[in-house]
Amino acid sequence: MQEKYNLLYTKEEIQALDRKFGTPFLIFDEKALREKVRAVNKAFSWCPDFKNYYAVKAHPNPYILEILKQEWCGMDCSSLGELYLSEAIWNTWTDIMFTSNNTPIEEYKKAKQLDAIINFDDISHIDYYKDNVWEFPSVVCCRYNPWDEKTWWNDIIWIPSEAKYWMTKIQIFEAYKKFKDYGLTRFGLHTMVMSNDLNPDSLVETARLLLELVVEIEQKLNIEFEFINLWGGVWIPYHPDDKAVDLEYVASEIKKVYDELIDNSSRKNPLNIVMEQWRNITWPYAQLVSKVRHKKETYKNYVWLDSSMSDFMRPWVYGSYHHITVLGKENSPQTHTYDITGSLCENNDKFAIDRKLPEIEIWDYIVLHDAWAHWNAMWFNYNAKLKCKELLLKENGEVKLIKRAETLKDYFSTTDYKNLNDLIK
Ligand SMILES: Cc1ncc(COP(=O)(O)O)c(C=O)c1O
Repeated sequence: MQEKYNLLYTKEEIQALDRKFGTPFLIFDEKALREKVRAVNKAFSWCPDFKNYYAVKAHPNPYILEILKQEWCGMDCSSLGELYLSEAIWNTWTDIMFTSNNTPIEEYKKAKQLDAIINFDDISHIDYYKDNVWEFPSVVCCRYNPWDEKTWWNDIIWIPSEAKYWMTKIQIFEAYKKFKDYGLTRFGLHTMVMSNDLNPDSLVETARLLLELVVEIEQKLNIEFEFINLWGGVWIPYHPDDKAVDLEYVASEIKKVYDELIDNSSRKNPLNIVMEQWRNITWPYAQLVSKVRHKKETYKNYVWLDSSMSDFMRPWVYGSYHHITVLGKENSPQTHTYDITGSLCENNDKFAIDRKLPEIEIWDYIVLHDAWAHWNAMWFNYNAKLKCKELLLKENGEVKLIKRAETLKDYFSTTDYKNLNDLIK
């Protein structure tokens, strides 16, 4: 089981990094990321112009965005800040999909300025956009809620009828009719492919559903689509017993559906497939490294780290499992049961509850695995706790600081109160 949780470093190497940078830190593996992105691009290379738009929200660090841009990924943005981050890594052109919800007009204006593909979340946003920005971007897209079509949603985790996003099928037809009436000619269609499960066939079935809908809309409205966007939502094998979705299998199965439904010989342009799959690509390539600061024995055994739930929200929000390695004790017997906690005044501040681990001592290094997408990016400042630093293990073995830790000066910089900011050294 353990081999699926690769370690980037030995204990001695982490000690050296600790001396240089200090814990806690989040560390990213550039080589593994590039290799995985290339493998996914290769699996879908049968598509006319396959592209995976990086969901900037998954981890919004420009050094990471730059790596992904070099690997021919576009950027999926949902907010003004994410648009600026993407703009910073491009020079004369951009490749952005703007998939927002409840969107303020200044965000639409910025997306238009960057000639992003605008992916509308609601039918009412089309006229809101038109009345305020006037000119549409080159390519428009809509987000489809397939609630009435899909029967295999995993309603434990998530059901689309409860989602605040997307348009119904009737609204989708209305939207593309509007675009056509406004003289637009370049279109995409977007939906989330899975309800956070690990069944690859769900992904293939959603691709079928979307391709069938493309054919239906094209026939009814006499328009032509340029692409479908299979978004994200594929789950991750966080737990030792889980098995990852095999994207190569998925790509080959989607090809079969594509070949069955799409006849490119009768189209002006071949229909493309794009995605925004990131959780299931990046997940193992970031790890949170912390040190044990205290131990406590009361009714339970606690191990207190120098990081907190503010660095690492998933176990609190979703009750999720994240694998833990005690560095240097990888092969020691798991003789002890611990709650692994941070220092927030909040009892949910736990990375793991009742976890079987080798005996832990103060100063041990604790690695929390699978720390990429939608995880550290959701950090917060409760209790005036500060964000940890980010390191990149580069392809050549060097380690680069790609984001310094937040300081109390950063934290107080938005509050202008007496000499508060001068008090902090
Ligand atoms: C619009 C959009 N695209 C892509 C993603 C990425 O999904 P995942 O990380 O599950 O692959 C998200 C995640 O929330 C999203 O909101």
